[in-house]
Amino acid sequence: MSKTLLLLHGDGIGPEVITQVERVIDVLRVSYGFKLNVESALFGGASINACGVPISDETIARAKSADAVLMGAVGGPKWANAPRDKRPEMGLLNLRKEMVVFANLRPAICFDALADASSLKRELVAGLDIMFVRELCGGVYFGQPRGIDVLPDGSKRGYDTQVYTTGEIERVAHVAFELARKRKNRVASLEKSNVMESGLLWRQVVTQIHQDYYSDVALEHVLADNAAMQIARAPKQFDVLLTDNLFGDVLSDLAAAITGSIGLLPSAALGEKGKPGLYEPIHGSAPDIAGKGLANPLAAILSFEMALRNSLEREDLADLLYTAVIAALNKGARTKDLGGTLNTSQMGDAVIAEL
Ligand code: IPM
Ligand code: MG
Repeated sequence: MSKTLLLLHGDGIGPEVITQVERVIDVLRVSYGFKLNVESALFGGASINACGVPISDETIARAKSADAVLMGAVGGPKWANAPRDKRPEMGLLNLRKEMVVFANLRPAICFDALADASSLKRELVAGLDIMFVRELCGGVYFGQPRGIDVLPDGSKRGYDTQVYTTGEIERVAHVAFELARKRKNRVASLEKSNVMESGLLWRQVVTQIHQDYYSDVALEHVLADNAAMQIARAPKQFDVLLTDNLFGDVLSDLAAAITGSIGLLPSAALGEKGKPGLYEPIHGSAPDIAGKGLANPLAAILSFEMALRNSLEREDLADLLYTAVIAALNKGARTKDLGGTLNTSQMGDAVIAEL
């Protein structure tokens, strides 16, 4: 039975990069007999424009019944001042929450051909292969109460709540430890237990899970600020980095920069085994370059590669696609973010030529 992939092109450069994924899927169909149902739905600003909400209930239902969902990008200046529930980003947060994809895998790999595109010296990043496991359904992104109140003197008070329960920490910790066993068997857990109560609980729960189930895996606790410094200084010391929603958001952008370009990094958001995964390039909608054919489609293509591997049960095609991306880079294919001259669809051509 063929699997179903739901495409959410979204905003800004989203449609441009997802179009390249659709081309890749066509090649896999024609040349490798790949069978896949591909559907699409409106999402983000595009959905707000058409039906007033960043994601409709119907689209959420379709996402939950698909095997995998691939999102392009979301947001843009047009909606920046809209009320929160009318903002494109809320579509993404609702989707993550509704799909219960609590473990966000964000690999930061420095491809050999691109080591000179890094903001760091080649020797610091060559061969880099680290994996963030970012908690994605909790923390300050969803904690209540939150709001902006008006104080008696007319000034305002804005607040958010950082909150984690034992269960939320445990389920994402299991994912990180399991993953580490298939890699270099090391987990660094990042929090601010020196300042935050939720950070202290995070450290306690991760310690307990490690002791009860994964004593064969090396665990270290690193304060998130120190982790930022270590990532910028000597990133290769890490293997799996387990962290909360907000620190994971910030630190994965940092990790992206040192791999050469944020246009390269894919992600997979996973929930319970057997449930659909949500795949997203970690870059944003990049409104400044949208519609100009300048976007690098590799993060989207590699997100689809993660979908093939983690949700679509086609590891063979994932290997093939991954090899094709590396081969294209090795032959010098570069979009502008990597110092090259290829436009978005020419980068797609380069990968397709290798396929
Ligand atoms: C990311 C993005 C999102 C986030 C935005 C678009 C809501 O920055 O996936 O890293 O903050 O999680
Ligand atoms: Mg982010």
